Amino acid sequence: MTSSGFKLHRPGTAAAKTATEPEVVELEILDDNAELDLSHDSARIDVEDTLAKLDSELVGLANVKRRVREIAALLLIDRARSQFGLASSRPTMHMSFTGGPGTGKTTVALRMAEMLHALGYIRKPKVHTVTRDDLVGQFIGHTAPKTKEALAKAAGGVLFIDEAYYLFRPENERDYGQEVIEILLTEMESERSSLVVIFAGYADRMDTFFSANPGLSSRVAHHVEFEDYTRDELLEISELMVAKENFAFDAAAKKAFGEYLEIRMQRPRFSNARSVRNAVERCRLRQANRLVELDRPLTKQDLMTLTDADVYGSSMFADQQEETDPA
Ligand SMILES: Nc1ncnc2c1ncn2[C@@H]1O[C@H](COP(=O)(O)OP(=O)(O)OP(=O)(O)O)[C@@H](O)[C@H]1O
Ligand SMILES: [Mg+2]
Repeated sequence: MTSSGFKLHRPGTAAAKTATEPEVVELEILDDNAELDLSHDSARIDVEDTLAKLDSELVGLANVKRRVREIAALLLIDRARSQFGLASSRPTMHMSFTGGPGTGKTTVALRMAEMLHALGYIRKPKVHTVTRDDLVGQFIGHTAPKTKEALAKAAGGVLFIDEAYYLFRPENERDYGQEVIEILLTEMESERSSLVVIFAGYADRMDTFFSANPGLSSRVAHHVEFEDYTRDELLEISELMVAKENFAFDAAAKKAFGEYLEIRMQRPRFSNARSVRNAVERCRLRQANRLVELDRPLTKQDLMTLTDADVYGSSMFADQQEETDPA
């Protein structure tokens, strides 16, 4: 269902009928004295589902979750207003997600897309992820078609530009990245396209990128910051991941995993929850080898339990040799 607040002004030309146009569904305008009960709004119910999913699948991230709720409230009220015929401009939903690797940016983008879709802001709950190489061509004349192809793929959903600052290379006088930025500017401004752009990357580089591109910056309405996780949050994340796969750490393994995290967090290429996921996978590998070598009948309990041996087997504990995450 699309509210009239998201109504599109069709120029009426054949050329304007592209796949990026949202459907227009006219709603009956409510009487001035009517009351709108948001608790019966089907979009509201879908949004609550998505928010509940976000709460249960992601540990911590309190401020991110708060920002997502605020955005949901803005769109819900915008829908409600348009049901009373209160015209206003379509709220801008382009965003930036800044934070370190493995802090949940991609996961939150997927939930954001679901939420924007439930509220009728975009036509499909899909995220199309790109990096510089998907947008910038190697030769003159190749960039615009590449960028337009990416925009077409993302149309009606979310275009997620990972490490967006690589689009801007001030040291290269005639970098094709600039062409991408210009196309994006036009697209982001267009009321007609139901496309949300999310720029993602490290906070400091993103700041430089936005300062150098004020045009882009001014079209980004919501800046969402993802903080690195604390050791305790990472431990909680590991337990969540383990439980999701029908495993469990025993008490000694949990303690060992906490020690593992303290070491791993100090090492190069530490990537927050992504490193936790990789470490858990290596624990599973060691558990499998341990069980095979047991040479006795196995119980369900055996198959479910990760022990401290499965954690201490990590090279992190063995020596100073570096354990790196697979790509
Ligand atoms: N707060 C969290 N609670 C539980 N799991 C999490 C949390 N944050 C991230 N994860 C998990 O960690 C993995 C990496 O998360 P995600 O891909 O969303 O991070 P990212 O910020 O996009 O990382 P990158 O910068 O490397 O692209 C995923 O498997 C995700 O489910
Ligand atoms: Mg990601």
